[in-house]
Amino acid sequence: MAERAIVTGGAGFIGSHVVDALLAQGDTVTVVDDLSAGDRSRVTAGAELEVLDIVDLDGLRALAGEVRPQAIYHLAAQASVVASVEDPLRDCDVNVKGTLNVLEVAREHEAPVAFTSTGGALYGDAAPRPTAEDRIPAPLSPYGSSKWAAEAYVKTWSLSHGIPNATMRLGNVYGPRQSPHGEAGVVAIFTHHLYTDQAPKLYGHGKPTRDYVYVTDVVDALLLARGRAGTFNVATGTETDVATIWRELSQAAGKSIEPQLEDLRPGELQHSCLDAGLAERELGWRAKTSMAEGLRLTYAALIEEFESQGGPD
Ligand SMILES: NC(=O)c1ccc[n+]([C@@H]2O[C@H](COP(=O)([O-])OP(=O)(O)OC[C@H]3O[C@@H](n4cnc5c(N)ncnc54)[C@H](O)[C@@H]3O)[C@@H](O)[C@H]2O)c1
Repeated sequence: MAERAIVTGGAGFIGSHVVDALLAQGDTVTVVDDLSAGDRSRVTAGAELEVLDIVDLDGLRALAGEVRPQAIYHLAAQASVVASVEDPLRDCDVNVKGTLNVLEVAREHEAPVAFTSTGGALYGDAAPRPTAEDRIPAPLSPYGSSKWAAEAYVKTWSLSHGIPNATMRLGNVYGPRQSPHGEAGVVAIFTHHLYTDQAPKLYGHGKPTRDYVYVTDVVDALLLARGRAGTFNVATGTETDVATIWRELSQAAGKSIEPQLEDLRPGELQHSCLDAGLAERELGWRAKTSMAEGLRLTYAALIEEFESQGGPD
């Protein structure tokens, strides 16, 4: 049944795909985004964009009073590990207080929240892989800590107010519309380097592994989690190293550029891989897109984006 949804962070990479999927199923969508990392052009014409900081509770409350949301997809976040190390207080404001504001407003409208947390930055390097949700987190960065703290509020608001809120711990998401100018998102960054014939930096000498999950698979998981209380990993259970991604994209581009090998940056993990068995059992969700297919789709879409923005210069 069509409903009124709010998507926080809907001008961002993943949020904009959530918006498109909700519009496609007939929902009325309002995006809340302060455009600190998002881009107005990512918000499809069918959705309303409200430029608003989620730390502003009064603003959020006034907007929700107009929209009367029936579901909230909460993706707005300070999503940079490096920025969280540089400014942990702002990271906490957005990721903890901002999330609490969203939960409060959702409670006032009895709207369930589907919240995007992190799988990659939460479990730490000592966790067995693939890591299941019952592993006690040991985050290496303030970003991991703020997401963990926010998760606690998501769960408490479910338990104490009887609203089925879901926390989705995402692996490393990649796909069309990912910014090539962020600190993470190696698929987008590498594609841009290949497009502009530049050598990329391979942190950790290309050896770190991640669990890469394609963006539309993540969107499917978020939509299935609407109104389902719980904490779910959203990933593939397969790990791929950074050097392999560079090699495969280089093949797709038909180019051979020698990368620069660098040490890991502060707060970065050596390895990460998540067990998404719970999402499969409870939500009937499973990643459908193979890494080869996802890389092919992402490479083609990003090159088209770069071309439409005026080419490499
Ligand atoms: N991309 C990944 O691999 C990944 C992995 C794990 C978790 N996540 C989580 O998924 C969510 C979406 O990530 P993304 O990759 O699309 O990042 P993104 O930076 O593209 O999107 C985040 C959006 O939130 C907005 N935003 C930031 N602070 C805000 C604030 N105070 N008020 C309102 N809007 C604000 C930004 O402008 C941006 O549009 C985030 O919560 C992130 O932590 C992402």
